[in-house]
Amino acid sequence: MRAPSTNGLDVNGRRILLILGGGIAAYKCLDLIRRLRERGAKVRAVMTAAAQQFITPLAVGAISGDRVFTELFDREDEHDVGHIRLSREADLIVVAPATASLLAKMAGGHADDLATAVLLATDKPVLVAPAMNPRMWLHPATQRNVATLRGDGIRFIGPNTGEMAESGEAGPGRMAEPLEIVAAIEELLREAKNDRPLAGRHVLVTSGPTHEPIDPVRYIANRSSGKQGHAIARAAAELGARVTLVSGPVSIADPPNVDVVHVETAQEMLAAVEAALPADIGVFAAAVADWRVASASGQKIKKEKGAAPPSLALVENPDILKTIATRGPMRPALVIGFAAETENVVEAAKKKRKAKGCDWIVANDVSEKGGAMGGDRNAVHLITAQGTESWPVMDKTEVARRLMERAAQHLRQTQVTV
Ligand code: C5P
Repeated sequence: MRAPSTNGLDVNGRRILLILGGGIAAYKCLDLIRRLRERGAKVRAVMTAAAQQFITPLAVGAISGDRVFTELFDREDEHDVGHIRLSREADLIVVAPATASLLAKMAGGHADDLATAVLLATDKPVLVAPAMNPRMWLHPATQRNVATLRGDGIRFIGPNTGEMAESGEAGPGRMAEPLEIVAAIEELLREAKNDRPLAGRHVLVTSGPTHEPIDPVRYIANRSSGKQGHAIARAAAELGARVTLVSGPVSIADPPNVDVVHVETAQEMLAAVEAALPADIGVFAAAVADWRVASASGQKIKKEKGAAPPSLALVENPDILKTIATRGPMRPALVIGFAAETENVVEAAKKKRKAKGCDWIVANDVSEKGGAMGGDRNAVHLITAQGTESWPVMDKTEVARRLMERAAQHLRQTQVTV
């Protein structure tokens, strides 16, 4: 057995949900729980009916220091800690020992008991430690299920090769040792952290146009689709951030896992942005109307025969980006503005960065073919205090992903948290 190195740092304070299957190796899981807890992890256990034939919930609960969950349809649990909550309230799920039958159910998407329902409901990393007779492990059916599960992103530790509980049997099928499982948990948690570099951050994004009313039926608007801003909100959420998206009227759907505040006017947008602070990152991608009608009519303006068309007096809207970027203590650590230009793009954007007081400007060359406005692709320059980067034409989703990855890197380097 390779000596597993576990420094304990990666599991400290993390919530591990251990699903125990029915195999003699279940007894080793008492040691696994102890090893995890001595490294600072919180361990909750779910036991299948078969697992309870090998060790008791009483023993598991005594070692884990928490109640043990066994029933899918426990009336109290469904209202208290049901299978959805069990899967959400964990950072990682470990299945040990994973029997051939449990692997088959997982591969087939069954959810007929608490253990399998949790596994089907989860969006967390899952680590599986198989334990079974070598013939069962090597059986094509089990190997097919393992391949399916690997394809689904499930990770495996073991099985090891050696003596089995049944005398005279040897081969692959022994459950990995507790410290090997701990090392694999640490590795998976480390990887998950790298995939979510914005975890623990709050990202605030404005997107779309604003509508400035003239009267109850007419308004001043612009052609912004909201695609770039919405893509940024989505990318930030995918990288683990809590995201607030303040969106003007758009025809595209709300991105998943994002708190969306729908507004109409620039003044409403500013109020919603202020209400959402503090944030680590502010991205101001909305095409805010520069002006609004000084006094919008409460009644529909009538077209009178022979009368001159009404003249509209305009007043300037608040500059949301500038207001937030120049605000002392509530200023996000990283403020990103956008600029749409048709000529001297970089020069104009450099000036805008200074004038608005923001850290970065993403400059769109709206004159280019496949234009930024309303289209799916974008050619941008990223202007920072350090200089200018010109990115190749790419999908707005890719611009968003790259921008948020850069933002995460920037925060890491400057080590600022709210
Ligand atoms: O001044 P200009 O409209 O070109 O600046 C564009 C940038 O400023 C964008 O990031 C946009 O979201 C932001 N902006 C704003 N409030 C305004 C006008 C622009 O937040 N009233």
